[in-house]
Amino acid sequence: MRIELKGVASQTTRILTLKRHSNSLMDDLIATGVPIASSCSGELICKKCQVLTQGEACVLSCSLTTKQYIESFGNEIIVNYL
Ligand code: FES
Repeated sequence: MRIELKGVASQTTRILTLKRHSNSLMDDLIATGVPIASSCSGELICKKCQVLTQGEACVLSCSLTTKQYIESFGNEIIVNYL
């Protein structure tokens, strides 16, 4: 699955091809080398794994699969600290 990752801090855009499809978007991003913050390992507690959609809605990347994210929000992901 192809994802366009925009980093707000660096003002850069990277095109990623996610190689595996795990239980969550967070795990797929981490497996591709994207540093997604987390202190609860995807248990929906810490809320550190937030990403922004193209419409700038906050989404917990551990709360849905990559496929669910793309179906709901498209293939663009925005991360403020990148
Ligand atoms: S990793 Fe903690 S809420 Fe997503």
